[in-house]
Amino acid sequence: MATRISGAVITEALVDVAPVARVRNLVRDFDGRRVLDNLDLDIAPGEFVALLGRSGSGKSTLLRALAGLDRGVEGELTTEGTIAVAFQEPRLVPWKRVLANVFLGLKHADPKAAARAALEEVGLAERAAAWPLTLSGGEAQRVSLARALVREPDLLLLDEPFSALDALTRITIHRLVIDLWQRRRPGVLLVTHDVDEALRLADRVLVLGAGRIAHESRIDLPRPRRGDHPHLISLRETLLAELGVAPEGTR
Ligand SMILES: Nc1ncnc2c1ncn2[C@@H]1O[C@H](COP(=O)(O)OP(=O)(O)O)[C@@H](O)[C@H]1O
Ligand SMILES: [Mg+2]
Repeated sequence: MATRISGAVITEALVDVAPVARVRNLVRDFDGRRVLDNLDLDIAPGEFVALLGRSGSGKSTLLRALAGLDRGVEGELTTEGTIAVAFQEPRLVPWKRVLANVFLGLKHADPKAAARAALEEVGLAERAAAWPLTLSGGEAQRVSLARALVREPDLLLLDEPFSALDALTRITIHRLVIDLWQRRRPGVLLVTHDVDEALRLADRVLVLGAGRIAHESRIDLPRPRRGDHPHLISLRETLLAELGVAPEGTR
């Protein structure tokens, strides 16, 4: 049975270390096939976690479970505070202008002002009155980020939100994400299949394999990070090997 406890009672001594997400023995079967197999995961407040995994390994399944979008999971799943999600496709409502997309469903004393401030933060204030279909891919993804941020999440769940963007736009949006994260400090779970993206952004990189967290690495390097840092070069090899990609120069 799925157990979901929000606002769990925590003893005072533990408040400092209480995770924003705590997962124990999470199981998800689809048509008799086990996709998540007794998975355990903690995300600390303000921690930036990247989740790598081969296509079909269950990354989106885990993210949907954390977002409370999947009633079919079993095990223990506890989250604290507000959760916001951004997906690979920006999922904007085409018949609502950008500003209205950002405050859609928002509970706030002044939703429009909050949405304007969020658009400002992602550098899109001047596009508030635009229709979603007139935006570039990068702009649409920034609107999607603004829509998540305006909820002031304690836990921000990102499912490959940058994978459809071209390389230059991706670099710009990486900087923006780090900037926003450093200012607001939500816990982040970023699902990605891009090892370099994980290395550039995360405090901790996880690899999902066989339905569990098969690998975990911490990265204690300041940002912005250079990809040619010796620690990152060796970690890249480790992660690629975990993902089943042979190192360069071998067959
Ligand atoms: N609603 C669903 N019904 C049936 N199978 C599903 C469903 N959602 C995901 N799956 C299956 O679960 C596996 C993991 O999917 P997913 O979590 O989307 O992988 P990833 O995001 O890592 O690429 C895949 O084999 C996928 O086909
Ligand atoms: Mg996915």
